[in-house]
Amino acid sequence: MNARLGDRSLFSTLRAKSYLAHAAISPLSDPVKARVDALTSQYAEGGVEALPHWLSERTRLRGQLAGLIGAQADDVGFVQSTTPGVVWLAFAIDWKPGDRVILFEGEFPANVTPWQRAAETFGLEIVTLPIAPFFESVEAGLASVEHELSRGARLVAVSEVRFQDGYRMPTAALGELAHRHGAELFVDAIQALGVVPVDVTHVDYLVSGAHKWLMGLEGAGFVYVDPSRIGALVPRLAGWLGHVDALRFLFDGAGHLRTDRPFREKADVVEQGALSGASLAALQASVELLQGLGVDAIYDHVQAFHDALEPGLVELGFRSLRAFPEARSGSLCLEVPEGIPLAGLAKSLGERGVVVSTPDGFLRFAPHWPNASAEVPFVLEAVHDAVREIR
Ligand SMILES: Cc1ncc(COP(=O)(O)O)c(C=O)c1O
Repeated sequence: MNARLGDRSLFSTLRAKSYLAHAAISPLSDPVKARVDALTSQYAEGGVEALPHWLSERTRLRGQLAGLIGAQADDVGFVQSTTPGVVWLAFAIDWKPGDRVILFEGEFPANVTPWQRAAETFGLEIVTLPIAPFFESVEAGLASVEHELSRGARLVAVSEVRFQDGYRMPTAALGELAHRHGAELFVDAIQALGVVPVDVTHVDYLVSGAHKWLMGLEGAGFVYVDPSRIGALVPRLAGWLGHVDALRFLFDGAGHLRTDRPFREKADVVEQGALSGASLAALQASVELLQGLGVDAIYDHVQAFHDALEPGLVELGFRSLRAFPEARSGSLCLEVPEGIPLAGLAKSLGERGVVVSTPDGFLRFAPHWPNASAEVPFVLEAVHDAVREIR
């Protein structure tokens, strides 16, 4: 059975009537679950004998992920989730004491804590910019960043799509701006990849986990490093797998057990030790579905869903945070009407078969390719009834 936009028949065991929490965790489709089942069966039957097949699949997955972001397979390395990727990079940049790192208000902590730790360790200065100018216009946002860059900065770290308000940052323009001022751009792409087209042409470093819009399983993620930056990284957190020919001593006989081999100058230097084979297999199956549908088409499909849903929610008294078209993403975030407790509302919606998430005090609707605009009247009725019941 092929994946089709607006058709959830590949999610045969999904309980919710309308699943709108892909910005939190995606449910697993049948093909993704089948791929994981195949891997676990092969490990059950063969143990180490199962490994070569799945290692070669991982090699293919590197290329598939690279294809999603306009990169090459060698520029992609695997990690367990977003955070370990950010941490690895934050401790690998060849910082100078006093280097400045530009962050934004309301960032997900995965894109803050590692920079704070690096700041503490290497004597960096963190600057946190307000996000309001970006909601005025892209130009106003970029002007505020340029003002800060003109004071000198080493890195701008930003989410491609913000978890809290769903704002899609202009990362291509930010990258160009950063480079013009001698700085680099780091992007946390977990709220974008799979639903928003992403291109790393002007990005130096990018990290994403698999379990949101990529529709994989927790326990897998990847790092992209621009090949022109890899040579300057200091692999301070490297593990045994980061060396050139790291596996030779296991397969090529005696005389290869050395710990003085150089570190690889490719993005897979971030791979420290054994990874979750099941999570990588899940990611591969889900990326194949996404590529079959095309992320551009998924983006348009999701915008049409939001176009249908947003006016009804506003009519019910919610305040939409959805930005102008070029800054829209897969997430529609709203402020709930006064007097409505958010957690109670989300719970009541869940009981009515509508699964949503509630980041930082907002109500977030996050449909993906299996959702259909035909669900919208049901969702609006559920919201209407839940609000009435709570009031
Ligand atoms: C922007 C962003 N970054 C990172 C994460 C999570 O990081 P990790 O994959 O390491 O749990 C989330 C959500 O959970 C997020 O919204």
